[in-house]
Amino acid sequence: MTRNTTVRLARRPAPGVLTPDVFEIRDEPLPEPGEGEFRVRIEYVSLDPAMRGWVNEGKSYISPVGIGEVMRAFSAGYVETSRHPDFREGDAVAGLLGAQSHAVSDGRNVQRADTSIAPLQTWIGGLGMPGWTAYFGLLRVGELKEGDTVVVSAASGAVGQIVGQIARIKGARAVGIAGGAKKCRALVEEHGFDAAVDYKAGNLFKDLGAACPEGIDVYFENVGGEVLDAVLPNMNTFGRIAVCGLISAYNATTPPPGPQNLRHVLTSRLKMQGFIVFDFASEIPIALADLSQWVAQEKLTFREDVREGGLKAFPETLNLLFSGENFGKLSLKV
Ligand SMILES: NC(=O)c1ccc[n+]([C@@H]2O[C@H](COP(=O)([O-])OP(=O)(O)OC[C@H]3O[C@@H](n4cnc5c(N)ncnc54)[C@H](OP(=O)(O)O)[C@@H]3O)[C@@H](O)[C@H]2O)c1
Repeated sequence: MTRNTTVRLARRPAPGVLTPDVFEIRDEPLPEPGEGEFRVRIEYVSLDPAMRGWVNEGKSYISPVGIGEVMRAFSAGYVETSRHPDFREGDAVAGLLGAQSHAVSDGRNVQRADTSIAPLQTWIGGLGMPGWTAYFGLLRVGELKEGDTVVVSAASGAVGQIVGQIARIKGARAVGIAGGAKKCRALVEEHGFDAAVDYKAGNLFKDLGAACPEGIDVYFENVGGEVLDAVLPNMNTFGRIAVCGLISAYNATTPPPGPQNLRHVLTSRLKMQGFIVFDFASEIPIALADLSQWVAQEKLTFREDVREGGLKAFPETLNLLFSGENFGKLSLKV
């Protein structure tokens, strides 16, 4: 008989790289949908850097995952039984369904996944949360204008690759920062970035200056730390910095040092604003309409990194995000 495999939070982690014992992989009875609910057979579970924060105790933009709870995750699958008026057996759906093989939902935080536009796993990637993040972060928070030079860090990842492509679509110049020659080459050759800079080559400040001879108007920040320090002096007057993520600090065991080059925020009159994608929840249909159209027009492509191994590989797969071993949107095939 079919059972539900779940990834539950077993304990709060110590600072640093997550150890596998933070999670418990369980075999449980299938959850049954009540009136107004449906059950999804999950095929793909998204791995997101934010998960590192979601398992920590303490105040943040969202409550931490409770000990014993199914790990919060964006997942995609097919409705297999429904007592909900709007969802039918066979419907493809994606949303906050958790890290498990089967989920019961009342439809909140779940959307239909139109697989005629893109395959199922893309609805937790380019057409899912990472896509919306790139869209709102660049266009609303970064206030992108035609002709701007845009720099994005973690550029070959789920969010970054889309930021650069939207910048190009909107008539801006796109420069990516990524780790290693292979990722940098793919940004230019596959995603049409104007240039890419390898931060691991050790000359980021100078290399960025060479890749952005007219300076940087918008920086889409995914990394923080030394990368931010290399970007700040290259920013143009009245530039904008959209702070999306600071992944270099998520596994820190001691408080990371503050930016050394913060004075450029003052002298160049920069605007720096953090954002969380859910700030724009009511506008997701707008992002989806544009992203889907660009996919149909072949102006937007997604590199996806789908890993095998099932849910038991969840802890080690999540850690790939922090060692940079993922190449594109990371997800796990259930
Ligand atoms: N604000 C929001 O609502 C929101 C929503 C989604 C994501 N985010 C943030 O967006 C960022 C990217 O997320 P994603 O899902 O697209 O992940 P991703 O870029 O697909 O994967 C993470 C990448 O970060 C890079 N990285 C990891 N550790 C690093 C370090 N110490 N220094 C420099 N680069 C490092 C690695 O690429 P390299 O090989 O290039 O180093 C790695 O592949 C994260 O900071 C995440 O928290 C924010």
